[in-house]
Amino acid sequence: MMAEKIDLLVYNIGKLVTMQGVARARVGDEMQQVETIERGAVAIQNGKVVAVGEEIQVREQLKNKVFAAELDAKQKLVTPGLVDPHTHLVHGGSRENELDMKLKGVSYLDILAAGGGIHSTVQATRRATEEELYEKARKSLDIFMQYGATTVEVKSGYGLTLEDEWKQLKVAKRLQETHPVDLVSTFMGAHAVPTEYKGKSAEYVDKVINQMLPEIKTHSLAEFCDVFCEHGVFTVEESRQILLAAKEMGFRIKIHADEIVPMGGAQLAAELGCISAEHLLAATDEGLEAMSRQGVIGVCLPATSFNLRAPHARARKMIELGIPVALSTDYNPGSSPTESLQLVMTLGALNLNLTPEEILTAMTINAAYAINRGDTVGSLEVGKQADLVLYDAPNLAYLVYHFGINHVDTVIKDGQIVVSEGQKVS
Ligand code: NIG
Ligand code: FE
Repeated sequence: MMAEKIDLLVYNIGKLVTMQGVARARVGDEMQQVETIERGAVAIQNGKVVAVGEEIQVREQLKNKVFAAELDAKQKLVTPGLVDPHTHLVHGGSRENELDMKLKGVSYLDILAAGGGIHSTVQATRRATEEELYEKARKSLDIFMQYGATTVEVKSGYGLTLEDEWKQLKVAKRLQETHPVDLVSTFMGAHAVPTEYKGKSAEYVDKVINQMLPEIKTHSLAEFCDVFCEHGVFTVEESRQILLAAKEMGFRIKIHADEIVPMGGAQLAAELGCISAEHLLAATDEGLEAMSRQGVIGVCLPATSFNLRAPHARARKMIELGIPVALSTDYNPGSSPTESLQLVMTLGALNLNLTPEEILTAMTINAAYAINRGDTVGSLEVGKQADLVLYDAPNLAYLVYHFGINHVDTVIKDGQIVVSEGQKVS
């Protein structure tokens, strides 16, 4: 009888960080206690992990099988594929024109109130064809992947009409079908009150609830619903109305909370049972305590604070309180124009005081739970998707410390090599 074939064995791994062991988002010390295997190997069959551990044990376990292909990791560091739980991937245009205003001290909310900021991206997104949006987002998604991301959440929110929100979500759906990176879609029609509804936010909220949400649901264009709860954008009460309606329709919910002004967004996330609350730069102790009681994941976005030159989220306090912390790029054309989770690693260390182990936890298993993918990605364990990153780095701390460059050598997505020697495999 012929020996059964295993598709791929990745061997001679210098340090293999598996992130296995806790089947939920990690809290407190669990974020630091990260399993690292020296001289490791991962065996892959049909896009899934079938064995992981010390190479000697993996080979022993599979000694009656043959490997269709073997990849020598040459002592590299290997982690699970990175997960980005918060991006605004699909949009038109760019906003480098705001840099000058920013340098002159004009604030993010003032630019928005004057009809710029999100509104200028809304105009560019409405003007763009689906094809143009697809091409632009595809290029960005390639960069995400080359920098180690294998699962990425993507929000709408630059259309603000049913038709234009639909266009963004349709692009995300097409990318999910054509690009190796897995996407998780979020409807964010409540990202801003469109200029044509200025002074009539109640009418717009009504449209989001009664026109947009039901259509998006009927056509399964998004799994999550998100709202920008912020001074001058949506109030706590408006956010509550939208998220409650979305929850009743079967969406999972999340919220941009307490980014600039402490409005009580964190408390609202706890009250409504949001899976996560994002930003939280200005969240109060009461808000964080409420999140902790309800197990709401805190998604910190240090590249946004860096770029807005704003205070940083209190990630250490969150960990102390037992909030599972996740990290993300918040990739968008205004407050965080970067696709690099590796830059976020460095900012997570230097500005949020997180350790390399906590950072990786926040970008893998905790990020996966923040987008309802904890059972399939975020750790390397038998039965999960074979999403791995090989870095040209000796250890985790090195990744965080040597900043501003791309350390990724190889990315394996669903068992396929999609990046090799830092370049996309076409
Ligand atoms: O997450 N804060 C709201 N939304 C985005 C920024 C959007 C933009 O400026 O275009 C964010 O930071
Ligand atoms: Fe955002």
